[in-house]
Amino acid sequence: MLSDLIKEHIVSPRNQGVIPAADGMGEVVGPACGDQVVLYIQMKDGSINRASFTTHGCWAAVAMASWVTEMVMGMAPEQALEIDGEALAREQAGLPEDKWPCARLVSLALHRAVRDWQRRKGGQAG
Ligand code: FES
Repeated sequence: MLSDLIKEHIVSPRNQGVIPAADGMGEVVGPACGDQVVLYIQMKDGSINRASFTTHGCWAAVAMASWVTEMVMGMAPEQALEIDGEALAREQAGLPEDKWPCARLVSLALHRAVRDWQRRKGGQAG
């Protein structure tokens, strides 16, 4: 059964759109459905200050991306790398099993955005 929290994100998704000068960007295309999920992060003082997403995916991808982008704001990047979209979908959001892969796309895009930022940062330092 869908949780009240995820229902809220289905009805009014947050953080949709591109962050033009994002510090990190992660893109994923679902191997089964072909839908794209892109996550953007902006960093401040070593933490995620802002996050947003764009997707052509289904309602579950939109709702999970909305929730996850809200969840990561203020979070350390290492913590964001531990977010498991499928576990959230299963244990907290109450998404039906056929939507767990959509949630997995969201956390994968987030992880790629964080790694993109780490790579860019590493480039600056080097
Ligand atoms: Fe493609 Fe949900 S079916 S993201």
